[in-house]
Amino acid sequence: MPLEIASPLVTPRLVLRPVHRDDLPDLLEVNGDPEVTRFLPYPTWKTVDDGAAWLDRMNALASTGTGQQLVVVGTADGKVIGTVLLFRFDEGSSRLELGYVLGRKHWRQGLMREALVAVCGHAFSALGIRRIEAEVNPANVASGAILRSLGFTREGRLRERWVSRGEAYDTDFYGLLASDWRGGSPD
Ligand SMILES: CC(C)(COP(=O)(O)OP(=O)(O)OC[C@H]1O[C@@H](n2cnc3c(N)ncnc32)[C@H](O)[C@@H]1OP(=O)(O)O)[C@@H](O)C(=O)NCCC(=O)NCCS
Repeated sequence: MPLEIASPLVTPRLVLRPVHRDDLPDLLEVNGDPEVTRFLPYPTWKTVDDGAAWLDRMNALASTGTGQQLVVVGTADGKVIGTVLLFRFDEGSSRLELGYVLGRKHWRQGLMREALVAVCGHAFSALGIRRIEAEVNPANVASGAILRSLGFTREGRLRERWVSRGEAYDTDFYGLLASDWRGGSPD
């Protein structure tokens, strides 16, 4: 079965739902900021056309059944303030990987944590996922911190695994098992 979150996930301050083309102007504000894209595998967006190319890639991924791009919408004003990507879904092993991005003015308010608690909880219960993974550049302090705060274990460091913007860099591999899950508390 393809990976699919069909109904929106609702949290106290957010709604998470599949991306639409109409979201691109809001997402240009998020991904047009070099501080936000610093550790991401795509360049900072300059125009909405960069967003359209990204959306085509996300739609192609969804058509394989191994990924789904969600957007994070603020309930108060309906604005799209970030994204959560579920990808590398492996049905046989009930495993998937997470990617997440939030607009800079929303950082450090517990918002992405709130979003990921909902996504992980849904993945483990409704989707029957057994293991969630994430790869993080060790220099990306915020990303490592959010994973650990959710109860992920840092399982190892893979040396010079990726090359981005002409530079090789290490990746920390994080994993969270359904049997580890405490609803987002670290222990
Ligand atoms: C990573 C990111 C999504 C974090 O989102 P956020 O909403 O600011 O994180 P939260 O406020 O929910 O914080 C969650 C936890 O991480 C910690 N944290 C967040 N940013 C941190 C930072 N810069 N330094 C240290 N800890 C940080 C918080 O203290 C919190 O820990 P706690 O629950 O133990 O108090 C955000 O910084 C971002 O979008 N970065 C750019 C995109 C990116 O690099 N994505 C990840 C690619 S692997």
